[in-house]
Amino acid sequence: MKLFIRKKEGELKDMKIIVAKDYEEMSKKAADFVAAQIILKPDSVLGLPTGSTPVGMYRELVKRYQAGDIDFSNVVTFNLDEYCGLDAENPQSYHYFMMENLFAHINVPKQNIHIPSGSALDIQKECDQYEQKIKDAGGIDLQVLGIGRNGHIGFNEPATYFEAKTHMGQLDEDTIRANARFFNSIEEVPKKAISMGIRAIMQARKILLLANGEEKAEAIYKTVQGAIVPQVPASILQLHPDVVIILDEKAADKLSL
Ligand code: F6R
Repeated sequence: MKLFIRKKEGELKDMKIIVAKDYEEMSKKAADFVAAQIILKPDSVLGLPTGSTPVGMYRELVKRYQAGDIDFSNVVTFNLDEYCGLDAENPQSYHYFMMENLFAHINVPKQNIHIPSGSALDIQKECDQYEQKIKDAGGIDLQVLGIGRNGHIGFNEPATYFEAKTHMGQLDEDTIRANARFFNSIEEVPKKAISMGIRAIMQARKILLLANGEEKAEAIYKTVQGAIVPQVPASILQLHPDVVIILDEKAADKLSL
């Protein structure tokens, strides 16, 4: 495992980049980071992602909870996103994913868990209320992020501007193709999702971005070394004062470190 500090000029903040040898090591380091946050601030507000990337980190966190090393009883969570049209019981929903991979195995109180409702009748109201709940909780202490092959974070897809607020967005063609692996067919992948906006993500006090595999190498290169443009939503992280990126060697392959 190696740590690199990517020095930025002028207004841009340094980025800490940890390159782990493989997915296992990346997941353990990520779990160390989240565990340290909870130990230092037991009532931490965590922002959480779904997808393949964080599965190993969640597995590690469950192990550490079971070993008595961390206590989630005062932790508050906000998930980044949810598909529109899928209710919480749908096995493809992110509610279901979070239950299966984390919440059912730890002691976070049910009332402390927040995930946007993809089946809300009034989506705009749902988005506004989600935004307000994050504010009421005092903002996010640690936001964990995965990244799409196209550079998306949450479901903030490449666009001509950064979407600040929690919103319902159209999934990018590439995201639909990438996520089809979780469904029986590509037609079943929802085309819309509710996503936390860029502002709530950027207002998080700390950000931990994870990526593994060669298919993420280009997005990571553009995020770290490219221009800050809404066509690569994750590139805005260059402006955040406290970002740690944990990669496996394949995802780090295109970086000049
Ligand atoms: C999911 C999310 C997405 C994923 C991204 C990568 O909650 O926020 O931005 O992090 O699509 O997904 P995986 O990890 O499946 O490659």
